[in-house]
Amino acid sequence: MLIPVPPMGWNTWNTFAADINEELIRSAADSIVKLGLREAGYTYVVIDDCWSLRERDPHTNEIVADPAKFPGGMKALADYIHGKGLKFGIYSCAGVRTCADYPGSFGHEFLDARTFAGFGVDFLKYDYCNVPVTGQAPLLYRRMGQALRTCGRDILFSACNWGIEEVGTWIRSTGAHMYRSTGDIADNFKSMSNIATGQIPHLSQSAPNCFNDLDMLTVGMFGKGNVGSSGCTMVDYQTQFSFWTLMGSPLMLGCDPRTMTPEIVGLVTNRELLRINQDPAGLQAYRINHCWGNPECFTLARLLEGGDIALGFFNISENPCGNLLLLEHIGLTYESGMRLRMVDCFTGEEHYSGRDTVKVPKLPPHGCLVYRCTPVKA
Ligand code: GLA
Repeated sequence: MLIPVPPMGWNTWNTFAADINEELIRSAADSIVKLGLREAGYTYVVIDDCWSLRERDPHTNEIVADPAKFPGGMKALADYIHGKGLKFGIYSCAGVRTCADYPGSFGHEFLDARTFAGFGVDFLKYDYCNVPVTGQAPLLYRRMGQALRTCGRDILFSACNWGIEEVGTWIRSTGAHMYRSTGDIADNFKSMSNIATGQIPHLSQSAPNCFNDLDMLTVGMFGKGNVGSSGCTMVDYQTQFSFWTLMGSPLMLGCDPRTMTPEIVGLVTNRELLRINQDPAGLQAYRINHCWGNPECFTLARLLEGGDIALGFFNISENPCGNLLLLEHIGLTYESGMRLRMVDCFTGEEHYSGRDTVKVPKLPPHGCLVYRCTPVKA
């Protein structure tokens, strides 16, 4: 199964945790279609932890969906989701129990993969709590990787071991299509900016068919839900979404799709940002430090298919910050005779750089600007 661009969808965990049921999933799927999110590419509807009974079926050993939460069963729910032109995702864990203490797949990988295939699952998030042996993460992910590859259905394998045991160095060997490399996100600026800046040095370990997953977005949560803490402002969410898109992360929404504001829908369906995220070349974004040494004010650059380059100017500090980018830093020398035509991804406005520099306007605290740039003759 090939996954050439970062997967996009919605996951229940950030907002709902254990408070999930089939009515919620159906109405979330309805909203995803109604709001145009499916058309924008958000196709995976993923049920996270807490969907099963506390124990396996004593006769068949199968994991069983909780009939109180999912009275119609998982197959019928999958059919409903497929009928909407969406894909269905579910969750399990490499340990004996999941992180929220439901049955995990350890020792039952092949049985569970067949059960999930029988449900009509298209995506499996595979967590790492309660593993009975330590230091064996590659083996445990390879087991489920093989189980999925032989279960008779194409299932996207989404690994989640939070970056331990140097996951980026071996995860591609398991057949995983995306992998979590950090602890859980919380809905505040510090949490999300720490995840983003912490992963910039690891972006060489993210490429088509296996993407570094910065975690489910908190965009649009405004402090509500399971990982809601202080919440974020609209500026914070613009910056989060810009980081995730520029860094080529999977885009899994974590807010409640039934109550998304038009402003948030506009942000997560921003065509230019999504075009950068889904760029077919899948090249590595890189960091260019602030010209006067402010560590919290920097640039991310990423080469795009067809000759364009994306530039994101970020200020994660609590004070306004200006910057100056030397075109030398992106490999455009003065001798090249080029400058940049720059299209602002938020406003569509067009600007031109100088022949050797881009003067970055003063960014507000937590602010960012993202441009799609084309090198042109100066
Ligand atoms: C871990 C994962 C989260 C979520 C919970 C569910 O903490 O990192 O994303 O899946 O487990 O219990």
